[in-house]
Amino acid sequence: MKKTPNRSLAIPAPRRDTRLQLCLLALLIVAAAISLPVAAQGMPVPQPSPGLMPNPAAGKTLFEKNCASCHGANLQGSDKGPPMLSKIYEPSHHGDAAFQLAVKNGSRAHHWKFGDMAPVPGLSPDDVAQITAYVRLEQRKAGIQ
Ligand code: HEC
Repeated sequence: MKKTPNRSLAIPAPRRDTRLQLCLLALLIVAAAISLPVAAQGMPVPQPSPGLMPNPAAGKTLFEKNCASCHGANLQGSDKGPPMLSKIYEPSHHGDAAFQLAVKNGSRAHHWKFGDMAPVPGLSPDDVAQITAYVRLEQRKAGIQ
């Protein structure tokens, strides 16, 4: 007779613990899901091959094929994207890493009103370094440095 009330009291207690554990687990999962996009922002910058000597002429060809439709054949921009010959894209404001990241991950619209830039597939970090060398050369010619 003594054991029956004890047992009925004892059963709900572990259940409550399990429920609490499940709640904590659910909270952890939600927290992880929320922090994932934040972790994505700290993505590593794609690195060109060590010792690569970026070639602006090769970069020009790659730019015309992959970037000019929005940034303009002469880097003056278009109705789909901003000009690269703008103070905004001078090296101290948008360093070479910004080019690697924009091509790999795309870029949220924040300086202009063209909308977001989508990632550009099929380009290696070396390709992007060539493109960047071409853009820097044209920027210097335009007095942007
Ligand atoms: C479909 C159109 C489109 C194409 C193609 C495109 N871009 Fe963009 N790009 C944009 C737009 C739009 C922005 C965002 C401007 C803003 O900040 O509002 C942008 C921004 C950038 C930025 C600045 C990123 C930053 O950190 O603010 C860089 C660098 C860039 N593009 C490089 C490139 C290169 C290199 C290519 C070719 C490999 C390329 N883009 C192809 C539309 C394009």
